Amino acid sequence: MKYRSIKGTKDILPGEIEVWQHIEGLVRQVMRSHNYHEIRTPIFESTALFARSIGELTDIVTKEMYTFRDRSDESVTLKPEGTASVLRAYIQNNLGEHASLSKLYYIGPMFRQERPQAGRLRQFHQFGAEAIGSQAPALDAEMMIIALDTYRSLGITETALKVNSVGCQRCRPHYKELLIDHLAIIASQLSAESQSRIQNNPLRVLDCKDEQDQRLLQNVPLIKDYLCQECADHFTHVLTTLDETQIEHTVDGKLVRGLDYYTKTAFEITSSALGSQDALAGGGRYDLLIEELGGKPTPGVGFAAGMERLIMVLTKQKPITFSAPLPTLYIVSADEQARHWTFQKAIELRRRGIAVEVDYLDRSVKAQMREANRLNCEFVLVIGERELTSGSGTIKNMISSAEASVSLSQLETFFA
Ligand code: HAM
Repeated sequence: MKYRSIKGTKDILPGEIEVWQHIEGLVRQVMRSHNYHEIRTPIFESTALFARSIGELTDIVTKEMYTFRDRSDESVTLKPEGTASVLRAYIQNNLGEHASLSKLYYIGPMFRQERPQAGRLRQFHQFGAEAIGSQAPALDAEMMIIALDTYRSLGITETALKVNSVGCQRCRPHYKELLIDHLAIIASQLSAESQSRIQNNPLRVLDCKDEQDQRLLQNVPLIKDYLCQECADHFTHVLTTLDETQIEHTVDGKLVRGLDYYTKTAFEITSSALGSQDALAGGGRYDLLIEELGGKPTPGVGFAAGMERLIMVLTKQKPITFSAPLPTLYIVSADEQARHWTFQKAIELRRRGIAVEVDYLDRSVKAQMREANRLNCEFVLVIGERELTSGSGTIKNMISSAEASVSLSQLETFFA
């Protein structure tokens, strides 16, 4: 029996992980410069949290969650997204009492049982941010800017930002009725999937991928034209901020997103370098969600970006050549006594922060030299009876071939 990883999951191997670490480092830098603080929430939560926040009738909740009963018969779910968990933590830990605006970010795995394909996995990774406690339209723009700045600092510029407003509980119900009336007229010509959504989740009909449906939807009323004054003003403010900061964007009246918690702003960033799964990031405002989850009425806005998709775009642009960090020094042992000394010395040097490798496979001196070469070590030191008796050895620089005599008891000074 050969065990294989679960469909839609991936190992990230040495040689690849350096790219991840580089991106994660950059994300942390961008987040820090915007004053966001990292939060780590558990990988699983009670199922009800996601059903309540993402929406009972969304694809994520009805079809894609990894849900199971634990041994106490509690229904738990591997988190399909980060926002619900962050808000649960915000409420549970009274973060709102410590600061009137909480700026939080996260990097981590999420789980959705979707049909795996390029850029769509069952365990994938997101980095994201949530700003909780302010209605300022500037923060909506800030979310888009954080994502775009991260892409830009990685050299990814071929991105498109689409923005919309999905209204609020005041203007959306009226628009929904209007939309359902309009959809009823063309219902019989729409795809079965869109037809099934008309009653349950009519807004999702707007962003369906079916080309025939999209042709039929050309004259559909759009929510951005039916916003209440407050939502309309907010939307105008967000767009003006983007204009003023020279962030290219288009208003896409059919952008509705697959999660139900949004109010007012919704946005998506796509890349032409991706295939059918072209969304690099998505986000928006959720001013009602914290109250919905049992907290005090508190506005919030956030975004999340897919790591795998970002790496796909990067790799398409140019081959990424990050190599695994290399040991600085290889200490070759000529015999058993030397082997003992070498191991002890390696421990000592490593504690001082010097990257050292030694032999664990009983290899000959020649084979150890070959290994040091394969590992691209900068320096090699051979230890045998002569070196141990005299207390000194010769360190060879593997790049320049220069040699230097060193005292074995003060080896660390060579690397100081
Ligand atoms: P989302 O649009 O569902 O939003 O996901 C955000 C991003 O995660 C997507 O644009 C995509 O890059 C990546 N992603 C989603 N599903 C997969 C998958 N199966 N495989 C690979 N990548 C995927 C959210 O998750 C919201 N929580 C964003 C948010 C935060 N809104 C407010 N705050």
